[in-house]
Amino acid sequence: MSITIASFDGADRTSVDEAYRIGSAVNDADLPDFPPSCRRRFDALFHTPMPGTRSLWALARLDGVPAGYLQLDLPQLDNTDNATAEVLVRPELRRRGVGRALHEYGVRLLREHGRKRVVAMAVSALPGGPPRSVAGDAFAAAIGAQPALAEVRRRLDVGEIDRVALRAALAEARPRAEGYHSVCWQGATPQEYVADIAYLDGRLLMDAPMGDVQWEPEQVDAERIRGNERALDARGRRRYHLGMRHEASGRLVAWTLLDVGASADWHAFQQITIVDPAHRGHRLGLIAKAENLHHLLTHESAVQVIDTWNAASNSYMVAINEQLGFRAVDSWTDWQLTL
Ligand SMILES: CC(C)(COP(=O)(O)OP(=O)(O)OC[C@H]1O[C@@H](n2cnc3c(N)ncnc32)[C@H](O)[C@@H]1OP(=O)(O)O)[C@@H](O)C(=O)NCCC(=O)NCCS
Repeated sequence: MSITIASFDGADRTSVDEAYRIGSAVNDADLPDFPPSCRRRFDALFHTPMPGTRSLWALARLDGVPAGYLQLDLPQLDNTDNATAEVLVRPELRRRGVGRALHEYGVRLLREHGRKRVVAMAVSALPGGPPRSVAGDAFAAAIGAQPALAEVRRRLDVGEIDRVALRAALAEARPRAEGYHSVCWQGATPQEYVADIAYLDGRLLMDAPMGDVQWEPEQVDAERIRGNERALDARGRRRYHLGMRHEASGRLVAWTLLDVGASADWHAFQQITIVDPAHRGHRLGLIAKAENLHHLLTHESAVQVIDTWNAASNSYMVAINEQLGFRAVDSWTDWQLTL
């Protein structure tokens, strides 16, 4: 058996197609409850990358047959010692050395680019949860990576939302949040809030538990927020934001975001939620998330499930999610390899 690996970029449409098909097959086999891999999103990774990210791609063939691919993301504005990686191999072509060959190719590229560490995620089953392949964790351990952060994916089944309990939780929370009012918007952030959103976005990696992952806070400014918006628009992601405005200062001090992809109207992701540390203890997290859920469902009546990831140790956010009805599905480990 011969394994060949070749770098490619967005101009090489054949390789982009092959990589998309590999990603799709892996998604369908390993995460059957996920939406199908979105072609529009995949193409946008090449023509409209997230600002400050340079991606390197490589396709592996086994006896000439496209078998796996590697995506390396190299941050350019911060974290310039770091990279993230995705290594995917077609389910029926695993355990033939393709993963290891892509890994070795990637390590060489990353060293050439002066990177010192790389982080990748792998899914595994939770006790009592749906079965998951052991391959990701076993592979990461085999190449010498260290588990650096334990995360859990939780899913909210919209049909199971306990609206009475949620209303009661909100009624209890609102008196704690006097002096704050919610504002919601879709898509691009209104200009009057963009500086506050940049500040809150930049805080995320400072405030969320990162375990042993060595990742520095990102330098986020209004220009980067606008660049992110262009990149998400190119992916066709429909975004529902809710901010909590502190009336005394006029600042947005909490922010949460839900979004729906271009190719599956039944599925949403709960993305970032952050409350500025100076404004914690006012139940702003719960209020923002519950109100934004309502905001999303008002506009996206087809949404049936919402997925979200939290560090297993993020007890405050996990408690809010459980209160909203999110339930644990599977476990995700951030593996870190020092190069
Ligand atoms: C993980 C993945 C990329 C491995 O690809 P692969 O081509 O099967 O990997 P290799 O054949 O090169 O395996 C390398 C080593 O990893 C370990 N390994 C891989 N899969 C394993 C499994 N299912 N059980 C136990 N060990 C496994 C073994 O040590 C293996 O060496 P060996 O076959 O000589 O024993 C593939 O299973 C995959 O695409 N999984 C889904 C995505 C993912 O989890 N990516 C990695 C995130 S870190």
